[in-house]
Amino acid sequence: MNSHKIRLRLAKQEDGPEIWRWRNDPVSRQFSFNSAPIPLEEHLNWWAASLANPKRRTYILESEHGEGLGSLRKDETEAGEIELSWMIAPEHRGKGYGTTLLRLGIEGEKGRCIALIKPENIASCRMVEKVGFVKREMGVYEWIGKETE
Ligand SMILES: CC(C)(COP(=O)(O)OP(=O)(O)OC[C@H]1O[C@@H](n2cnc3c(N)ncnc32)[C@H](O)[C@@H]1OP(=O)(O)O)[C@@H](O)C(=O)NCCC(=O)NCCS
Repeated sequence: MNSHKIRLRLAKQEDGPEIWRWRNDPVSRQFSFNSAPIPLEEHLNWWAASLANPKRRTYILESEHGEGLGSLRKDETEAGEIELSWMIAPEHRGKGYGTTLLRLGIEGEKGRCIALIKPENIASCRMVEKVGFVKREMGVYEWIGKETE
């Protein structure tokens, strides 16, 4: 895979419909903490609020051709940590993009990063382990700034 030209860019309003498609994929719903399907209108309202939220930064993983491959959210928590969440477009899963997205996402990040992951979400558990997160407790991983690979 030619990953060095892949980049993270800030998400925009126009990304809303594409993100809706990714979010409503059955696997995305299964591994989300709220598994019900999301109506488009509800999603677009959420998306606008999400982009306007000063405690949240949302990024799109983009191919060298400008195609959206996945998304990453960084939320500042009450405890002053950065909570990460992500998804890869259904048609692009299993190609290493999730791992690339997470690596790019923590690059240069100074705060402590955490991720809440359902234990049955094997791909996400594997991703965080590869990038150097450690398990804090069941379903909670944290990154303390050191990569293992
Ligand atoms: C989880 C997700 C982001 C993984 O992205 P991806 O690009 O498919 O992951 P990668 O290709 O980088 O694979 C990461 C690791 O998981 C493994 N993996 C990938 N898909 C898997 C699957 N369906 N079952 C088991 N392992 C899997 C890969 O083999 C790889 O491990 P390895 O390097 O030891 O071989 C993607 O499947 C997704 O968007 N899922 C739905 C949304 C979601 O779960 N979001 C995260 C909520 S915390």
